[in-house]
Amino acid sequence: MSATRLLTNIGALVTVPGKGAVRGGAMGELSVTHDAAVAITNGHVSWCGSRSDWQGTAHDEVDLGGAAVVPGLVDPHTHVVWGGDRLADFEARASGVAYETILAGGGGIRHTVGETSRATTEALVGSATQRLQRMMRAGATTIEVKSGYGAGWEDECRELEVVRRLRSLVPARLEATMLFHLPPRDAAERAAYLHAATNEWIPQLASDGSASAVDIFIEREAFSVADAGQVLRAARRAGLSCKAHTDQFHALGGTELAIAHGALSVDHLESSGPDQVAALAAGNTVGVVLPGVSLHLGLPAAPGRALVDSGAIVAVGTDCNPGSSPLFSMAMAMALGVRLNGLSPAESLTACTANAAAALGLPDVGRIAPGMCADLLVLRSADWRDLPYTLGDDVVQRVFIAGTELS
Ligand code: NIG
Ligand code: FE
Repeated sequence: MSATRLLTNIGALVTVPGKGAVRGGAMGELSVTHDAAVAITNGHVSWCGSRSDWQGTAHDEVDLGGAAVVPGLVDPHTHVVWGGDRLADFEARASGVAYETILAGGGGIRHTVGETSRATTEALVGSATQRLQRMMRAGATTIEVKSGYGAGWEDECRELEVVRRLRSLVPARLEATMLFHLPPRDAAERAAYLHAATNEWIPQLASDGSASAVDIFIEREAFSVADAGQVLRAARRAGLSCKAHTDQFHALGGTELAIAHGALSVDHLESSGPDQVAALAAGNTVGVVLPGVSLHLGLPAAPGRALVDSGAIVAVGTDCNPGSSPLFSMAMAMALGVRLNGLSPAESLTACTANAAAALGLPDVGRIAPGMCADLLVLRSADWRDLPYTLGDDVVQRVFIAGTELS
């Protein structure tokens, strides 16, 4: 076999065995090969295994000095396109004002919508590029990016246009999602909004290809379960994948609704109880937990342990956004998944790789195996467990995306 590049002298090559999403206790079973090598051809892994088993030739050999190598991390949930900041909210919350109270008073997300709509497209592209660069340095090689801070439909489409432009500026794979974040507050405007969303906007998204999934925030201060049913039904009809922000503050039935619509994922789950855990265990929808939100807002953590124990598919994301989770590091999200959500280190690695890829419907990322995209991280340690163990240090030494090293 002839490869473009051979990564050699890998102290421990760590990946998730099998294919597709990993459910329940199997999330804790990793494949670890000592003294390994990985061959890369045309941006994909063409071979991997014990170094002594490699029999081919390579144009270029890279000696990794005995370091551990893990799959590039997949961030299944971010809102990195935003204008302005939420520093005043942060101070208010630190003095005891609740996130929901700020939102009900017209601030919070609505403040960011105003700031984002006033920002130029160039400014949004520039700030999001810098955020994505930090996220890649911290190990994310595939990143989902949601709209959701648009002041109306045209403005939401502008956010998706920003994502399209970002694709030529950063090497990470970017998955675009249209997020229906907040409905108009006036009842008549809300009905007109839902009518347009289901009859015009969602079909438009499906035909122009600007987003692969539709997400909706189901909460007292956002969309009701009935509203969300209309939107998710329209998304399915249009052939788009479905996602939902559910059970963040109240378990209103959004998780069950999204599962019934075959959603790829339900995200947040801080208020999920045994019924929601059982619904996830019985279905194929991925439960995405977002420990940065629990940390930043002081919310209860989503029941990661109960979800794994019941046999559900669990992923972890940063939810990088200015209001509920200013977290830029998937390495830190993995570490928090252990501390806050009760995952084992191995389960948290699976949650940040193979299962996060499943939450995006991507079959070719999240593992190091022949045919997969050559997205991988070289750690500053020979033991992969230093990645979920370490807090706030730079454990990721080198990042390869499609076989090319991030400079
Ligand atoms: O995922 N929960 C709703 N939406 C975002 C927060 C957005 C914001 O506060 O700006 C979330 O937490
Ligand atoms: Fe979110």
